[in-house]
Amino acid sequence: MAKVLHIEDDPANRLLVRKLLDAAGHEVLDAETGLQGVRLAEAEKPDLVLVDINVPDLDGYEVTLRLRGIPELEGTPIVAITAEGDKETSLAVGADGFVEKPIDARRFPDEVQRYLSGHSERISVPADDPLRSRTHKIAERLESKVVELSEANKRLEEVARLRREFLQNLSHEFATPMTPVVGYLRLLLDEELGPLTPLQRKCVDSINSSTRKLRSLIDTLLDVSHLETGRLHIYERDYDFGEVVERAISETAQTFQENGITVHREDIPAPMEARGDPDKLRRACMHVLDNAAKFTPRGSEVAIGVRRISSDIDQGERYQFIVVDSGPGISEKDRERILQPFFQADGSATRTHGGVGLGLAFARHVVEAMGGGISVMSPPNLEVAEQQLKGTAVMLSVHPGGPRPESTPASE
Ligand SMILES: Nc1ncnc2c1ncn2[C@@H]1O[C@H](COP(=O)(O)OP(=O)(O)OP(=O)(O)O)[C@@H](O)[C@H]1O
Ligand SMILES: [Mg+2]
Repeated sequence: MAKVLHIEDDPANRLLVRKLLDAAGHEVLDAETGLQGVRLAEAEKPDLVLVDINVPDLDGYEVTLRLRGIPELEGTPIVAITAEGDKETSLAVGADGFVEKPIDARRFPDEVQRYLSGHSERISVPADDPLRSRTHKIAERLESKVVELSEANKRLEEVARLRREFLQNLSHEFATPMTPVVGYLRLLLDEELGPLTPLQRKCVDSINSSTRKLRSLIDTLLDVSHLETGRLHIYERDYDFGEVVERAISETAQTFQENGITVHREDIPAPMEARGDPDKLRRACMHVLDNAAKFTPRGSEVAIGVRRISSDIDQGERYQFIVVDSGPGISEKDRERILQPFFQADGSATRTHGGVGLGLAFARHVVEAMGGGISVMSPPNLEVAEQQLKGTAVMLSVHPGGPRPESTPASE
């Protein structure tokens, strides 16, 4: 009975080899990656190593080179499991031979036995050959670099997991105490707790306006946390695209007014029947409008359009919402990145205006989930509401029929 180490990442192949070698009376040790294989070989000193060429981290050639640099394993036969073209390289790096893929179940146990009994096609190189010791050193360094990288990768994955959990906990912790605040505020506003003096009314209105902003931020945090954990649910129901946009515009009208921005509008075609999630779509539109109000200086202009367009992708119809502003624009370098969560082109400008960099990431995921997309042009070359503004244009589009299988966004 021999101890055979099998290095292979494919579970089906591992099982096959295990069954065949078990039946031939051998003990089989499995490793799923090159690194694991090297570690097991060092610890277990097997009688033979079978290594697949395409294994993760260190590949089969690198494993062979590395094992050949370990003096205790000098005499251990290494058999590469290879496709036709890889044979020469396997021998060149120090393998004793190879077994062709796919494995022939009838011949395999005999082939293994042949190598166990001393058969070898290894190319003989003198032990003191300088090139040989140099390549072994390189293989050893490669192994330690792969170890470092995979540990760093594990740490990064852990940090990403903690970040996702933190975001999830934070958004829930914020959302819980908001419920009574909103409830009692409603009672105060409706004067259910008694009439308000004009001064009290002014204070309560101001609290209400701040609470709305806080709620919108918490909603976005919750949404992004759900996006990151793949749990942002896009509901499907009938709605009118024009009506949703109209509500988003009227909810942001005050901000434009306060910022002294002139708004030009196109007529909204009607009806624009669609299926999807009108609430999330409205919030997506509001983020785009909010940006136009936030990043353009006082006295600027904004043009808003709502259109039916035919898609370049499948010639089908899409509904489009366009917001163009005469603000500072967005550099080409930042145009893709602003669609990622937490990215802000200019931290100092946003510090003046507030925001955490989630609006466009949220908008993108919502419209992609509804069979459409987002695009950003700066400076734009289009006319909206009879204006040719040269700041930034952001276009959201959705498919009227709702989510389409081929346009489901990739989960992050
Ligand atoms: N109309 C615009 N003009 C100039 N820059 C813009 C415009 N819209 C977005 N940006 C840039 O893109 C960045 C990302 O926008 P996004 O809406 O995702 O985040 P935010 O507005 O900074 O924060 P939040 O939306 O979470 O309140 C902004 O910080 C800004 O740098
Ligand atoms: Mg924003």
